[in-house]
Amino acid sequence: MNVYDSERMADLLKPLGFIITETPEAADMVILNTCHIREKASEKVYSELGRIREYKEERKLNNQNMVIAVAGCTAQAEGEEILKRANYVDVIVGPQSYHRLPQILAEIERKTSSVKGAGRGILEIDFPVESKFDFLPEATDIVGVTSFLSIQEGCDKFCHFCVVPYTRGAEYSRPVQDIYEEACGLVEKGIREITLLGQNVNAYHGTFSNGQEEGWSLGKLIKYLSNIPELQRIRYVTSHPVDVNQDQINAHRDIEKLMPYLHLPIQSGSDRILKLMNRKHTAVYYLEIIEKLRTARPDIAFSSDFIVGYPGETNTDFEDTLKLIENVNFASAYSFKYSPRPGTPASMLDDQVPEEVKTERLMRLQELLFKQQLAFNESLVGKRIPVLFEKTGRHEGQLVGRSPYLQSVYAEASTRLIGKCVEMVITKASQNSLTGAVVIQEKIAV
Ligand code: 5AD
Ligand code: SF4
Repeated sequence: MNVYDSERMADLLKPLGFIITETPEAADMVILNTCHIREKASEKVYSELGRIREYKEERKLNNQNMVIAVAGCTAQAEGEEILKRANYVDVIVGPQSYHRLPQILAEIERKTSSVKGAGRGILEIDFPVESKFDFLPEATDIVGVTSFLSIQEGCDKFCHFCVVPYTRGAEYSRPVQDIYEEACGLVEKGIREITLLGQNVNAYHGTFSNGQEEGWSLGKLIKYLSNIPELQRIRYVTSHPVDVNQDQINAHRDIEKLMPYLHLPIQSGSDRILKLMNRKHTAVYYLEIIEKLRTARPDIAFSSDFIVGYPGETNTDFEDTLKLIENVNFASAYSFKYSPRPGTPASMLDDQVPEEVKTERLMRLQELLFKQQLAFNESLVGKRIPVLFEKTGRHEGQLVGRSPYLQSVYAEASTRLIGKCVEMVITKASQNSLTGAVVIQEKIAV
């Protein structure tokens, strides 16, 4: 979602004369779009800011200014502190208020021209009543074949380890018509695959257009978008197990353009830990959903998120997670050591798990997940699958595309195939990618 937001910020500033630079040294404005999900991500902000400050100082020597803005969830959560620790930062802007950047820039110009106002950054971290989406211009600089499209934002779930409900705010679903228009605009500019984004994307419950015609679920929205002729592939991320519904399952059964791949985080395989995490479902419930989806779409592949070392996690709890993984067989997964986040209920618990135990558990978990990932990739060797080519590879004559199951696929093929979905036979698999040969050659008319 930060990638999507960064692109929208660039679009917003374009009418003011800004263009993207290759390096921060040359920039009149640097926006650091930040993540707050784990401590490591958040800490990076200060080291990055230190680097950017040097560029700002250098520019000052040449009588040039550089506006430094910090955006994203760390800005939302720690805005005041950032301004205190890094007093050279000019703007703090949260994920729901970045549409105000043009007005903020005008304010900065006024401030710098008056000596009194200089030296104090602007803090814009409200959750405004207006939706930022109503203020974002149409994307113009579209390159490539795939794109993200935000359809839902925020979260009302309040898992006890997570900062998202505090930084992104309450759940909100964009109207169908706005999403459809944005998707058509992307497709017109050459996009062939769209990934619909939302922190709880399958909790999507939109109206057709501003308050009119309620009752649009994610499944119904996907069906509607699948009518766009040149749009070849649809994906969505991230789903919550509790929100999986029949429309979503049926979409995987019925809509060919919807890719057979689902990212469905469970976090832990232990019911005791799931309860402590406030996840509101059990491991068996999760397995039942997986079954239903596999019945609807037999080749569907699953990925998930796992947290090891949640406060109070015992060896038995951890073994339950390993058992669940054995049971499901994931095509890929993300796994993290639990990271205490300020203000979240889990960070205040006494029985934090020691770092060495977290490290050991993460290694065991990842060993199993990597084994499953490799086995899944190897299961495709010798099979025919459609691959959407996205770009040229590092080697001469090489193209890179994606399988329906989100793996990168490498092939020797003509650049004319970029943007096309081509039948390929898979010849080789590694843990992170596939290699294949194009089966159906282009038809030539003389
Ligand atoms: N510590 C570790 N991982 C976390 N995640 C969210 N909050 C934390 C935390 N405090 C992980 C979850 C989530 C993913 C986006 O990040 O697994 O699904
Ligand atoms: Fe965070 Fe996802 Fe839980 Fe919401 S559902 S609180 S975004 S982990």
